[in-house]
Amino acid sequence: MPKPFLVVQLSDPHIGATWGGGDPRAGLRTVVEAVRRLPDDPDAVVVSGDLADNAADDEYEFVRESLALLGAPVYVVAGNHDDRDALRRHFDVPGPLGAPVQYAADLGSLRLVVLDSTRPGEDPGELDAARLAWLDAELAAAPDRPTLLALHHPPVMTASAPWDELGLPAADRHALAKVLERHPQVRRVVAGHVHRTIAGELAGRTVLAVPSTYVQARLDFDSGRIAFSADPPGFAVHAVLDGQVASHVQPVT
Ligand SMILES: [Fe+2]
Ligand SMILES: [Fe+2]
Repeated sequence: MPKPFLVVQLSDPHIGATWGGGDPRAGLRTVVEAVRRLPDDPDAVVVSGDLADNAADDEYEFVRESLALLGAPVYVVAGNHDDRDALRRHFDVPGPLGAPVQYAADLGSLRLVVLDSTRPGEDPGELDAARLAWLDAELAAAPDRPTLLALHHPPVMTASAPWDELGLPAADRHALAKVLERHPQVRRVVAGHVHRTIAGELAGRTVLAVPSTYVQARLDFDSGRIAFSADPPGFAVHAVLDGQVASHVQPVT
């Protein structure tokens, strides 16, 4: 039986947060332990942003130490709560101080491209022309490698107005779609930020947002405000086999 290459995705640990109730440190540790109990070891770990709620050094250190228990290389994505330079201090992130956190990594069976969708100091995201030009060139450099694109803000609408106001502007999503149309090797687009499992589509590719390890958003299209729920945390496993990607989302109860 061929063995799939396994990319575990954790999201939105928000270490240091108090606004969601519960203990974000316990949430991350619980999810890490659930990943450790899987019958298969992960080959790589992606954390799709909002690692730390206040961008404090001890918050990032807790994330780094917790993820080290997984025994696989860790790739971080910048979220709206993160500080680019703090991410660079605590994780192996290329690029100069202040620059968007974006890079490509050859994981073996899969190429990972990380894109920075944050607007520093703001909660909604953005994808400006410079970042999209970087992405276009990065994808053009390896057109035959099955690729996973990771960014914090999911580049789809959620149909929940308060969340969409915190998302990527429609023009930026369309501009990203134009780039993806030129690069069919991008097999999946993965994100966080919305604190629940949401699937959408962009340029014919599935976009998947995964749960938070901290607190989950309530399923609510009507109230006009963001609310959270007692839903369990979770994580995703992207299993790569023969150049195809199967994305499994696993709640942790
Ligand atoms: Fe978040
Ligand atoms: Fe976020």
